[in-house]
Amino acid sequence: MDSSDFLEFVSTRSSIRSYRDEPPDEQALAYILSCASTAPSMGNLESWDVVVVSDPERRAALAEAALDQPHIREAPVVLAVSANYVRAMSRYGDRGILYALCDASIACTYMMLAAHALGLASCWTGAFDDEDVRTVLELPPHIRPVCLLAIGPGEQTSGMTPRLPIEEHVHVEAW
Ligand SMILES: Cc1cc2nc3c(=O)[nH]c(=O)nc-3n(C[C@H](O)[C@H](O)[C@H](O)COP(=O)(O)O)c2cc1C
Repeated sequence: MDSSDFLEFVSTRSSIRSYRDEPPDEQALAYILSCASTAPSMGNLESWDVVVVSDPERRAALAEAALDQPHIREAPVVLAVSANYVRAMSRYGDRGILYALCDASIACTYMMLAAHALGLASCWTGAFDDEDVRTVLELPPHIRPVCLLAIGPGEQTSGMTPRLPIEEHVHVEAW
């Protein structure tokens, strides 16, 4: 892949909120998960975990925990990506909280792009009630849910969601 192919690849991904509820493709799922394990992480501790959710009742409960967002119910698979605080804090103390959140976000981004590489739709979903998600997924206290990544066959959009001009983000040498 050359650099223009890469730009084309990332700019043709967008968040999709409408899915066909077809059975999850196990091979696709295995590919997506193995891409996540190539992600960089602080100290190579890989301070992230994922719960693979495909059971319709659990997806419905997750959708409710995610402020009733219907795409969490509709998508055949939801990858609930979490920061593993204990793994990162065992080496880095309080700073490990930040590293675990970074690790989980990067792993989730890899999975989102892996889904795109397979032609699957996805939607990063961060608006949810932490405690409700914890209850639905039976998460232990040191695991903080970061993202519910909806994945599946979905309606493609016609183009990229608008962005700020890059100058709004970039500061040269200092703020
Ligand atoms: C941290 C984070 C949280 C998000 N939470 C939600 C969400 O709860 N529901 C939703 O529909 N989209 C959510 N999104 C998707 C964004 O709305 C979307 O990425 C943004 O509007 C840009 O659009 P694009 O993904 O199509 O490029 C979230 C994205 C991120 C990175």
